[in-house]
Amino acid sequence: MRIVLVGPPGAGKGTQATRLAEKLSIPHISTGDLFRANISRQTDLGKLAKSYMDAGNLVPDEVTIAMAKDRMEQPDAEAGFLLDGFPRNVSQAEALDELLETEGITLDAVLDLEAPEAEVVKRIAGRRVCRKDSSHVFHVTYSPPAKEGVCDVCGGELYQRDDDSEETVRTRLEVYHTQTEPIIDYYKAQGLVVTIGAMGPVDEVTGRALEALKQDQ
Ligand code: AP5
Repeated sequence: MRIVLVGPPGAGKGTQATRLAEKLSIPHISTGDLFRANISRQTDLGKLAKSYMDAGNLVPDEVTIAMAKDRMEQPDAEAGFLLDGFPRNVSQAEALDELLETEGITLDAVLDLEAPEAEVVKRIAGRRVCRKDSSHVFHVTYSPPAKEGVCDVCGGELYQRDDDSEETVRTRLEVYHTQTEPIIDYYKAQGLVVTIGAMGPVDEVTGRALEALKQDQ
């Protein structure tokens, strides 16, 4: 399957993507995680991305599209993928369509995670991420690690993302409404959007997503 996951910052895209990718045996491709990996390796791309991410703005399309394309062309993504955080504006969605058309493939669904703003703000405020692998995500209240400050999966140090400060989160939400939400209409016109509520326990949301995608649980 080829799926795009969309939703406001903190809706639980990364959390759900990890589970869905495992259930569906497809790679989870997160442009945010790819940028964070570049930041921790201190690459030129990482240095460029950090300045935009820390301000809550989108990294320029040119570099983002090239990075996403490169990842989607890896052998493990041949049979399908779950895109998390890409595309994030209409020009990225158009670039993705062009790429898929060149390859003679299509998307199966765009899964839209809905959550009220007050909840996403709470989720972001309590989020803690592993320094070794930013796909290992915890929450101080909702899913605390067994030992405070330590990743249950790999023992890495847990930290609060630089872009999770209150001021940056406000900008990220605004960017989501103005630049990312329009892709939902773009994909509705293609008949691809399935919307699910992202409230409630993580497993319940995963169940809802699988049902919406018409997959066995
Ligand atoms: P990115 O990393 O994609 O961040 P985001 O879209 O803002 O989403 P988040 O990672 O904040 O939240 P999430 O929805 O994944 O929630 P999570 O599962 O962690 O992008 C970061 C930045 O990179 C962007 O601002 C931009 O600068 C740049 N970027 C990335 N892609 C780009 C692109 N395509 N173009 C340009 N720039 C790009 O969950 C949040 C918390 O809630 C966690 O603590 C989790 O444990 C908890 N939680 C999850 N589900 C539940 C639940 N059901 N109940 C209770 N708690 C829950």
